[in-house]
Amino acid sequence: MAEVIIVPDRADAGALVADEIVSLIRRTPDAVLGLATGSTPLPVYEALRPRLQGVDVSRVRGFALDEYVGIDLDHPESYASVIRREVIEPLGLTPELVRTPPADDPDLATAGERYDDAIREAGGVDIQILGIGTDGHIGFNEPGSSFASRTRVKTLTRQTREDNARFFDSIDEVPRHCLTQGLGTILEARHLVLLAFGEGKAAAVAGAVEGPVTSMLPGSAIQLHPRVTVVVDEAAGSRLALADYYRDAFANKPDWQGI
Ligand code: PGA
Repeated sequence: MAEVIIVPDRADAGALVADEIVSLIRRTPDAVLGLATGSTPLPVYEALRPRLQGVDVSRVRGFALDEYVGIDLDHPESYASVIRREVIEPLGLTPELVRTPPADDPDLATAGERYDDAIREAGGVDIQILGIGTDGHIGFNEPGSSFASRTRVKTLTRQTREDNARFFDSIDEVPRHCLTQGLGTILEARHLVLLAFGEGKAAAVAGAVEGPVTSMLPGSAIQLHPRVTVVVDEAAGSRLALADYYRDAFANKPDWQGI
């Protein structure tokens, strides 16, 4: 089962996950990071900044989960721009080694396949950071997505477009399509770290961690993976039936274990 860690706030979550990433980079200077966008991963990137001072990150590689289709890659809200602004520049990563799904590829029908090939050629993702949508999506795999899916074009749900309208001037400007890693792609990463904050995510988190494994809640795919860490604040964890057990397990965890 996933290890579930309930923390007081986002900063604690960021620190916990950042420590894990830093130790990975120290062990493996060319580690492959699976990068997420949206609000959820920001505390991780913020916590990484001071922790990576003095650490050689020049060989660290990265693959983002998804990208909008239908806006320019230099639009400030394209995930290429977000990853550059929130991850590459502040952490000093090598831009050529960090990729986002190529939503400007003239051959979009096969672009996903080439992205998956690039991940495979890099040796696979060592640690995949994930948020979860209020509709249960991970990456942009909306409800109904196949657990075997690979990187491909998807249509965003109305709910996702409403949730993401805060990044744009209006919902009409939120793209309708995206190029997203598939659930099958995501499940190939060696360690999944899913973060969620706030009451609005509580139902999706409970469904993903404790509900039936169903494509209607794509986040439940994490139950098929052998190494998953779920880090939530009290509000996002408020519907977890086994919350007391998770707290007890974490409080009594051997020091050597890490997350
Ligand atoms: P958010 O999005 O982090 O902006 O809430 C999460 C997601 O859609 O995966």
